[in-house]
Amino acid sequence: MSATAILITSLIAVGVVVAAGVFAVAWRRGPSASPIVGEFDRKAAKRDSSAKTKTEPEPVHAEVAAPAHEPITIEDDRIEISATEMGVTRRKFLNRALLGVFGIGFLGPLGISMVAFMWPKLSGGFGSKINVGPIADLRSKVVPGDGTIHPLFVAEAQSWLVPMDGALVPGSSFEGLPVVAGADGGDTGLMALWQKCVHLGCRVPECGSSQGFECPCHGSKYNFHGEYDSGPAPRNLDRFALEVDAQGNLIVDTGTVLETPRAKIKTIAYPQGPSCL
Ligand code: FES
Repeated sequence: MSATAILITSLIAVGVVVAAGVFAVAWRRGPSASPIVGEFDRKAAKRDSSAKTKTEPEPVHAEVAAPAHEPITIEDDRIEISATEMGVTRRKFLNRALLGVFGIGFLGPLGISMVAFMWPKLSGGFGSKINVGPIADLRSKVVPGDGTIHPLFVAEAQSWLVPMDGALVPGSSFEGLPVVAGADGGDTGLMALWQKCVHLGCRVPECGSSQGFECPCHGSKYNFHGEYDSGPAPRNLDRFALEVDAQGNLIVDTGTVLETPRAKIKTIAYPQGPSCL
């Protein structure tokens, strides 16, 4: 599930929960067909009842006596009910409605996001095999043929694509690992370096002047093959397993991360100019 799908799902869930809460509160606060008499209403009803059943006072002066009145009795159609019968008071209802709205409103989307995060990625997206395009096109961008190297960042694979001469692999820290693709037949191969610094995970940018990758967080430096040069990083930059499909597309398996130790002998010189840090 993509980040956009997660966001949309969460927003829909929040909207539904909030709408349900508002509807429930509004419905509850509307006119009620049945009378509800609580503790306060029972006392008031008793007072009202005693007041209403009193007869009118006798006139003080006989000469101005008012005509006699019949005792006034007002029918009280309110019914006393017990707390058990009354069930949920309005205050209780509002408390529960608020708890429901805010509880479900926050916990619901959180739960959905956690499920989406843990959902296995069967196809597409980081964590799976990603087709990043024809390897010939990628190679021409990374090594245009004028002797320069231009690492190519592929966002969906969180990778820097860098060149690797197949002849340099034997004896290197990458020997025997499926980290170089397209190096058959004398062509320059490619490697996919994970952008994440192996020290504490900062994104590592390239540095054109030094021809390497330099971490802005604590200063770890790597050459353009992702081999460790200096700083607190414990190993080379991690890289992904690669393959080329039948159509000549480079497939980056972002579910297979390959770690390699600090290179004893670097396969490419570093630095080749001023540092960016
Ligand atoms: S995170 Fe890169 S050097 Fe610390």
